[in-house]
Amino acid sequence: MEKVKFSIDGKTIEGVRDQSIMEIARDSGITIPGLCYHPEVKSSGGSCRLCLVEVHQAGRMRVVTACNYPVRETIEVKQETPLIKRLRKTILELLLARVPDSDVIKELALEAGITETRFKKDEGDDNRYKCIACQLCTQVCEEVVGVSAISMLSRGPDKTPGTPYKKASATCIGCGACVYVCPTNAITMKDSTGIRKIWGREFTMHACSACGNHFIPDAQIDFIVKTTGKERTFFDKCPDCR
Ligand code: SF4
Ligand code: FES
Repeated sequence: MEKVKFSIDGKTIEGVRDQSIMEIARDSGITIPGLCYHPEVKSSGGSCRLCLVEVHQAGRMRVVTACNYPVRETIEVKQETPLIKRLRKTILELLLARVPDSDVIKELALEAGITETRFKKDEGDDNRYKCIACQLCTQVCEEVVGVSAISMLSRGPDKTPGTPYKKASATCIGCGACVYVCPTNAITMKDSTGIRKIWGREFTMHACSACGNHFIPDAQIDFIVKTTGKERTFFDKCPDCR
């Protein structure tokens, strides 16, 4: 694996060629803000624009998204600059206008010193009051889970994830991966005594034979057994009791 060395705000760090600026920075303990990137989801990133940084090379400067910019040679990356601070503030204001009720966005905005947005606040329906349309949920469902139960519906400001025709999806396995990756907690999933509700469907949950915890939907067990050949008995106990 070919190594690459570059600097972020004057600090030299090292990664593997073609890793993104974001990946190498995070591995090196440097925080670059970002909402739509997840290391386990290859197709993620490039949507929220919060991770903008300056890349200086051979006397030229470009503004790029750190989460999907592959490092191939020595570059100088800067994020503590007036331009990047201004751009990120504008992006936060735009996000605040899209999802004014999102606590996650409100907190990020506050950290950047923003309490109000200059842009007109959206008055969308309740279903998307926290969704920033980053697509991480649909990407994880397709790429990591391998189910593709949800996709982005509608266009423009109404673009949000959903099941086909907003009907209960026969392909969803109730795993909740979409909920776990959503950066703004925009997807509702409710678990109560053996039943999980998500995307308009109810899933029966499998109980651990040792502690009794309902830890995985039966539909997810069926899917894993069918696609990987794993023994059904593997799911007799929850990960904590195995
Ligand atoms: S529900 Fe969450 S993960 Fe899905 S597009 Fe909206 S903000 Fe992104
Ligand atoms: S984290 Fe890079 S664009 Fe969202």
